[in-house]
Amino acid sequence: MARVLSGIQPTGDLHLGNYVGAIRRWADQQAPDHFFCIVDLHAMTVPHEPDELRASTRELATWLLAAGLDPATCTLFVQSQVREHTELSWILQCVASYGELHRMTQFKEKGEGRHSVSAALLTYPVLQAADILLYQADEVPIGADQRQHLELSRTIAERFNHRFGDTFTVPTPTFPTAGARVMDLQHADRKMSKSLPEAGTLLLSDDERTTERKVKRAVTDSGTEIRAGEDKPGVTNLLDLLSAVTGEEIPALERRYEGAGYGTLKGDIAEAVNDFLRPVRARRAELAQDPAAVEQALREGAERAREVAAATMDEVRDAVGLLR
Ligand code: AMP
Ligand code: TRP
Repeated sequence: MARVLSGIQPTGDLHLGNYVGAIRRWADQQAPDHFFCIVDLHAMTVPHEPDELRASTRELATWLLAAGLDPATCTLFVQSQVREHTELSWILQCVASYGELHRMTQFKEKGEGRHSVSAALLTYPVLQAADILLYQADEVPIGADQRQHLELSRTIAERFNHRFGDTFTVPTPTFPTAGARVMDLQHADRKMSKSLPEAGTLLLSDDERTTERKVKRAVTDSGTEIRAGEDKPGVTNLLDLLSAVTGEEIPALERRYEGAGYGTLKGDIAEAVNDFLRPVRARRAELAQDPAAVEQALREGAERAREVAAATMDEVRDAVGLLR
């Protein structure tokens, strides 16, 4: 069975894109050999508020549990609670080159326009490699924007193995299927993202009326026809959205809405999105009443993760010549 690891940053509210493109897939496919890491240390690479980080970490854990990650099946844990991540990161920094890190597009993008950038923003992808290699992950489900980081993780693993002997599994990235990309409701050509204004972003934490309002204000196109096509970016996105939450095919939806207006379509989408999110929202509200249960799940997750991580670190220390 494949060992799987993925990570998600505790920054800001989760949106429907995160859920459909990542979290739902993790939950649907979860198995005992799957590890999911809330990467709080990565969230510190840009300026942050301590209280916010603490709250966001707990909040994300609550949503992930609500979305169906089951601690009885998989391992959900917080990166900083397994100290081996930072330890391995240092050792891998001695294997990665400055040039490689400097070339990463995320480093260039996040650093752009700031007069001071943390050293950790540069070494960010090495910590990510440590997250993955510690667990000897075979597969890493990620979004397309993480392709370059995964390529670097592979390079680091291969270089380490070559220099110090076979130690790490070289991980393979896996990507969501095409339909898993949710677009912004206000900017039809951009994917839904926490960095865009909230009006076009469907947050998991929105109440049903807010969701409805955002869907009803979504951009559409000229003409009245409801069909997908390059000349109809707004309507195409709406149909994709409906398809993503109902599982129905686009052609079937086009047939259903023949002759109907945009208003009808949007009303149905708002209802479908709310139906889709209702169980997750309800479960998250329940869990929010019981923060101790969430802490307990994270504690147990960290313990399980630590067992695997510690075993890898023993091998790594031996391989590079550190005393046990
Ligand atoms: P981010 O919020 O960008 O850090 O992404 C967290 C996870 O959600 C990653 O696996 C992304 O690929 C996924 N994701 C983010 N935005 C979208 C979107 N609009 N559609 C589908 N998946 C997304
Ligand atoms: N850098 C990833 C992102 O921004 C998050 C991440 C950190 C990650 N460590 C990871 C993803 C390990 C996969 C595996 O989305």
